[in-house]
Amino acid sequence: ALNLKNRNFLKLLDFTPKEIHFLLELSESLKKAKYAGIEQPQLSGKNIALIFEKASTRTRCAFEVAAYDQGAKVTYLGPSGSQIGQKESMKDTARVLGRMYDGIEYRGFGQNIVEELGKYAGVPVWNGLTTEFHPTQILADFLTMKEHSDKPLSEIKFCYLGDARNNMGNSLMVGAAKLGMDFRAAAPAECQPGCELQKQCKEIAKQTGGKTTITSDVIEAVKDCDFLYTDVWVSMGEPDEVWAERIKQLLPYQVNKKTMELTGNPDVKFLHCLPAFHNRETKVGEEIFKKFGIEAMEVTEEVFESEASIVFDEAENRMHTIKAVMVATLS
Ligand code: CP
Ligand code: NVA
Repeated sequence: ALNLKNRNFLKLLDFTPKEIHFLLELSESLKKAKYAGIEQPQLSGKNIALIFEKASTRTRCAFEVAAYDQGAKVTYLGPSGSQIGQKESMKDTARVLGRMYDGIEYRGFGQNIVEELGKYAGVPVWNGLTTEFHPTQILADFLTMKEHSDKPLSEIKFCYLGDARNNMGNSLMVGAAKLGMDFRAAAPAECQPGCELQKQCKEIAKQTGGKTTITSDVIEAVKDCDFLYTDVWVSMGEPDEVWAERIKQLLPYQVNKKTMELTGNPDVKFLHCLPAFHNRETKVGEEIFKKFGIEAMEVTEEVFESEASIVFDEAENRMHTIKAVMVATLS
């Protein structure tokens, strides 16, 4: 059997296909047990630190609920109020928190920061999103695909449209390559994943029977897909000034009714890690839509609210999959 005890969860590149499948299967069994009311707490007596240098709804709540379900206790360290990022280095923070906590989640900026934390903490460190990667999100996405498809993951075709150079584009490309999926990214040249990572994924895909296609051609990219996926066009930590250019670059990559139809698959489903800009009902959305005179960004309201949209199943699955990561690495 597989043993992930004491492992960090920093990026999917560090895991074998078998290990990723194991985490997905563990998520399924934990989800089933919770629904049946027979979940067994396996993290009693454990203390968990949650470091958030960026905002979060899903990831924070998923870690907290998952920890409580499993009998663990958490401390939330927000963007301000601790010494992190101010007076104390990540290396020292790691060695301090590692003396008190059994596991540490980190959401923030460079991947190098979470790697540093993982190197010095002496306890499992989990990546809750960095500029480069969002690996726990991918577990939730793949679990959701499994639940909404009759096919094994290795037979699934899906396309990510939009800013494919961000944490989601990078991580989906890696995850899909690892599991031998047919992955396409549709993005203009300026928004495609870095060459090195593309090359690495194509190498991985060769061994797993997967396919990694990066193209600026939406029609080619979405053809026959089982799922279309998109994310915000400007990520946390990026300056507001990039909105104008991004909108211009990415409007042709919006997921709308026509994009869904272009797949040729009447059963195609829509995924989004959330939060999404699908209408004006948010403070930031209202401002941006007004300023640029547009009605929708990465996804239209019509698709977001359609039967094909499974984004809230996906959001729920954040909790079950994060629980699996904690249980696997701590117990
Ligand atoms: N998808 C996701 O990570 O959401 P939060 O930013 O709310 O955690
Ligand atoms: N790419 C987005 C993902 C949010 C879950 C961001 O980094 O802001």
